[in-house]
Amino acid sequence: MSQIPTYVTAVPNGTEKGLYMAVDLGGTNFRVCSIHLNGDTTFNLTFIKVPIPKELMVAQSSQELFAFLAKQIEIFLKTHHEQHFEAHVRRRLTISSPDGYKDENVFRLGFTFSFPVRQVGINKGTLIRWTKGFDIPDAVGKDVCALLQDEIDKLHLPVKVAALVNDTVGTLMARSYTSPGKTGTVLGAIFGTGTNGAYVEKLANIKKPMTGDYDKSTGDMVINTEWGSFDNQLNVLPNTTWDIELDKASVNPGIQMYEKRVSGMFLGEIVRLVLQDMLKNPSISLFKDENSSHNDWRSTTSIAQQSGVYQQWGLDTSIMSVAAADNTPELSTLRQELESVLHIYSPALEDAQAFKAIAGAVGRRAARLSAVAIAAVVLQTGKMTDPSSEGEPIDIGVDGSLVEHYPYFRDMIYETLRAIDGIGEEGAKRIRIGIAKDGSGVGAALIALVAAGMEKTKDTADYLGELRLSAKRNDLTAVPEDSEATAD
Ligand code: BGC
Repeated sequence: MSQIPTYVTAVPNGTEKGLYMAVDLGGTNFRVCSIHLNGDTTFNLTFIKVPIPKELMVAQSSQELFAFLAKQIEIFLKTHHEQHFEAHVRRRLTISSPDGYKDENVFRLGFTFSFPVRQVGINKGTLIRWTKGFDIPDAVGKDVCALLQDEIDKLHLPVKVAALVNDTVGTLMARSYTSPGKTGTVLGAIFGTGTNGAYVEKLANIKKPMTGDYDKSTGDMVINTEWGSFDNQLNVLPNTTWDIELDKASVNPGIQMYEKRVSGMFLGEIVRLVLQDMLKNPSISLFKDENSSHNDWRSTTSIAQQSGVYQQWGLDTSIMSVAAADNTPELSTLRQELESVLHIYSPALEDAQAFKAIAGAVGRRAARLSAVAIAAVVLQTGKMTDPSSEGEPIDIGVDGSLVEHYPYFRDMIYETLRAIDGIGEEGAKRIRIGIAKDGSGVGAALIALVAAGMEKTKDTADYLGELRLSAKRNDLTAVPEDSEATAD
């Protein structure tokens, strides 16, 4: 795994204060928010959320994507911070130097960029590879903060990209801010479109060279594991014909193999591939009836040609949640959903039961594999056996559509934790898994706060200078890094 040092050396304690901006790129939507940290474990968050146009996820050049992101920041500022924005425009028009931004008027922005990045400082990092369906080759090897700052500057926005944050790190920070405890949160994890975890490691255990500045006094640093790429060699991960098929048809075959078995982007597709195989098999009567007496609705099932079951990515993972939640004998909610979403008309009870069993197996496998990653990190922290933390809760912050919306996902994780050596019944009781909603926004704001504290006073005249230089340098120094080997 990549095991990326993040330059974040402490988790918050709930007393942090201030107004910060955050943006979040990493799944199907882009979010822009401003966060007021109140200093008493609470915050106020304002945001806009826009879907990322599919064509931008595979754009010809990264500039197209980053220009779109900067435009959304402008729209957000005009809508939600109009006074601040207009005052800035007025000031800019009266200042002779085009670089005359003054520190106190510039928003510090935490950039949550949820892809593997080789971080070289708190607001600097080069993209290692895209995941989750994104594929814009010219961005690989470039500093993503500089790419964003460059487009922000073209629009003359009063914003400085102050921190680069993975969503898992944001989740870890947000959970620590909102639920501070004696021992602190040890892991932030995402089980959503993608999956990953970031945890607090002892500095002494980190063998990778680190070039940027960081505070050594805590003796710790947050590590972004990028566990989505655990066991790409498939030494231990389960592998079915449907996993193989899914991987072959993906934009990144052979990588993110753990993620492809665990996260929301892929689970629906696995279920679809299973169904497709069953539909091809003449000896299995799925979604078809010999006559109406075989169907408890006294009708015959039919499946429309345009059903998502026949198209790649045509079965959204959200229907698996409906299947898991419907525990009625008739399964009428699930059957309705099969009709309205997948165009499977008059499905018999047996059809719905089969769908529920298949989706349930895929979901359960995902939850059990998720528990393995959580357990590995918990064991690594040593807290299970350390007498000084005996009996204390081990706190974990999680976020993402799966853990939030898939029924019983957390229960299945706990069931698995109890079965894992070194954790067991007693250990599982100590592990406290809590949702850190909007973790990435709040976490990014918290890291922007840390970054603001690290800024040197001599830079105060023009905070943007260094980033602008770095943006220019990007064109000259970008080296494509397309393999894990060069990244690590
Ligand atoms: C990315 C991670 C991210 C995770 C969850 C994965 O595909 O590689 O960086 O944290 O998705 O969003």
